[in-house]
Amino acid sequence: MATERLIAATPQTTDQEWAGPTLRPDSMDEYIGQADLLEKLEIAIEAAKARATGNVADGIARPHEPLEHVLLHGPPGLGKTTLAHVIAREMGTKLITTSGPALARGNDLVAALTRLQPGDVLFIDEIHRMPIAVEEFIYPAMEDFKIDVTVDTGMHARTVQIKCKPFTLIGATTRAGLLSAPLRSRFGITHHLRYYSRDDLRVILHRSCRVMGLLAVEEACLEAISARSRGTPRIANRLLRRVRDFAQVRAKGVVSESLVETALGLEGVDELGLDDLDRNYLRTIATVYDGGPVGLETVAATMNEDSGTLEDVVEPYLLQIGFLARTRRGRMLTRAAAEHLGIAWNPEREGEMLGG
Ligand code: ADE
Repeated sequence: MATERLIAATPQTTDQEWAGPTLRPDSMDEYIGQADLLEKLEIAIEAAKARATGNVADGIARPHEPLEHVLLHGPPGLGKTTLAHVIAREMGTKLITTSGPALARGNDLVAALTRLQPGDVLFIDEIHRMPIAVEEFIYPAMEDFKIDVTVDTGMHARTVQIKCKPFTLIGATTRAGLLSAPLRSRFGITHHLRYYSRDDLRVILHRSCRVMGLLAVEEACLEAISARSRGTPRIANRLLRRVRDFAQVRAKGVVSESLVETALGLEGVDELGLDDLDRNYLRTIATVYDGGPVGLETVAATMNEDSGTLEDVVEPYLLQIGFLARTRRGRMLTRAAAEHLGIAWNPEREGEMLGG
C-alpha cells in the first residue's frame, strides 16, 4: 500500500517532523507565483484596510466591512494555507485555523466564530467536508455576522441570535465541485490555484536554499529539482531537504547536478517526478493489459493496490502530463508514457484512443 510518498502533494509525516526554519513566505512580497490571484488580493486588502480606517472618499470608517470571504480551490500542496497566513498578516489580524471535518457540530463553528476579533481571518481547510448541518449555521455568519443557535429541545426549543465580530472566511478545498451552490455564492473572491511553472519553483527553491543555509547551489541543480516537483512547492521543498541531507552526508554539503540525480534516484524519483508507484501503475497497464483500455479496479487488483489510492494519488498527475487517457472503455497508456518507460508503442493505439 502507498502510505508515505516523497512526491505526494498532500502533507506527509516527514513534513510535520521538519523542525527547521519555516519555508513558508510571510508576506505578499515573498510569495512567488499565482500572480493574478495576488493582484486581486492586494487590491481587496488595500481597499478593506482603507475602509476600516475611513481613508476613503467620504471619510467614513467602515470596520464592519472587512475583506470579503475568499474561496481557494485547487490541487493539494499549492499553498492555500500559506496564503491564508499571508492574508491575515497583511491585514494585521489574527488567523484562526480549523477544517471541515473538525467542525462536526454547529457548536464547533459557534466556538470558532465567537473567538474572533474584528477583522480576524477564519480559515476552514477542506471546507467541502463540513457537514451540511454546520453549513447552514455559516450562511448568516458570512452574510450578517450573526449565528442563530437553537437552545433547549422539544416544546421549549427556541432560537437565540448570537452576534459575532465582522470577519473574513477563507475556505480551501481540493474539490470545489463538492461545494453546494449556496455556500459557493457567499464568497466574494473565488480563485483556482494552478500548478507552478518550473521557473516559479526555481525561485521558491532559491529562497528555501537561503533559509536552510544552503549556499552557492547552481541553477542547474534547482532546475533538476523543480523538474521533479510536479508543479508543487510542497514537493519541491521536500525534495530539496532530501538533497540537502544527501549532500551533507556524502559530499561535505556541496550540491551538484549529479548529486541531485543520485540523491533523488535513490528515492526512486525520476526526471519527471514519477516514483515507483507511478511507474508500476503505467507498466501494469502496458505489459499486463497491452496498453489498455482497462478498468481501474482490474489494474488495482493486479497491483494489489487500493483503487481509491490509485484514483486519488496516482492518476491525477499522470493525466495532467498526458501519460494516461481515461476513455469510456477504461484507462489507456499514451504514446508519451510508452516513450518515457522505453516501451514499444503500437501506432494503432492512437486510433483506438480517438475512438474512445
Ligand atoms: N514556499 C512555498 N510556496 C511558496 C510560494 N508560493 N512562494 C514563496 N515561497 C514558497
